[in-house]
Amino acid sequence: MPENALADLARAVAAAGYSFVTPTPATHARVNARPGNAWARDLRDVLGWSRPFLPEILPPGLFALMQAAGILRAHGPGWCSALRLSTLDGLMFFHSAYPTNAADAVYFGPDTYRFARAIQAALEHRQGPVLRVVDIGCGAGPGAILAARLRPEAEVIAVDINPAALALTRVNAALAGTSVSACISDLLADIPGEFDLIVSNPPYLVDQAARAYRHGGGPLGAELSLRIVATACERLAPGGTLLLYTGAVMVDGQDPFHAAAIAIVKAAGLAWTYEEIDPDVFGEELTDGPYGNADRIAAVVLAVTRTDHNTR
Ligand SMILES: C[S@@+](CC[C@H](N)C(=O)[O-])C[C@H]1O[C@@H](n2cnc3c(N)ncnc32)[C@H](O)[C@@H]1O
Repeated sequence: MPENALADLARAVAAAGYSFVTPTPATHARVNARPGNAWARDLRDVLGWSRPFLPEILPPGLFALMQAAGILRAHGPGWCSALRLSTLDGLMFFHSAYPTNAADAVYFGPDTYRFARAIQAALEHRQGPVLRVVDIGCGAGPGAILAARLRPEAEVIAVDINPAALALTRVNAALAGTSVSACISDLLADIPGEFDLIVSNPPYLVDQAARAYRHGGGPLGAELSLRIVATACERLAPGGTLLLYTGAVMVDGQDPFHAAAIAIVKAAGLAWTYEEIDPDVFGEELTDGPYGNADRIAAVVLAVTRTDHNTR
């Protein structure tokens, strides 16, 4: 991936006053399906809404920059961008274009924005040093990049099993002016040592296509989230915290993810807090399939801390 060309493109786009907040795929589909939205009329339509376009609708020079960045795909009489560009807190993040059907699609979306808020709130209130951070399942890198921006003194590592995600994390970290090491690893299997902060927004749904960004494994999608809890219990430094943003499937008024996760945390003797931050996400999943008997899917944040009193 021509990383410098992507950075040049992002800077030119920023200079044109660009901003775009990525909605859910369902919203994206509805908005793009409106009359008159089949083809792009401006830059946001091209790099945000992933609509096909003719080069003449772009500001001067941008088509050449997209060409140099290698993100143009032929589409009928025009072109499409292979990447989207979203904004979060004044930062730019390249990620995969809509629709994210490919097995190696790089996710960025509404969960990312909630995850980002959780990281910001946790670091605002945190006392004690944060010298080593890892973002597990970094995707386009927002968790690692925000942590690096808020704690520039920390060594920040971003891990993912998807090489395309790591490539975009490197580009996005450079764009944000942050220092982040992006490494391939299944959770922390290839990353040694302990961490003061582990953040993660892993896949938490059951995805029939088993796409890495979406498929959490297990009957209701919680398998990977539970593996992250168990891994963090092993790898938190004294005073260290895991901040896990994930989805919890509620069944018959119960929260089986909560029960399983807290059992792991209690067995390790660590402290925890658990908060439902959105009671109802991905409601469109509830019609049938694995969630046919679920009440709802909640977005939750589990924070696990190895306090000074916890022993190993
Ligand atoms: C829902 S996306 C979230 C991306 C990013 N954290 C965000 O908030 O936008 C989940 C990410 O976890 C990665 N992932 C899935 N299984 C993994 C594993 N076993 N180890 C590391 N990363 C994994 C996926 O490739 C994907 O990039």
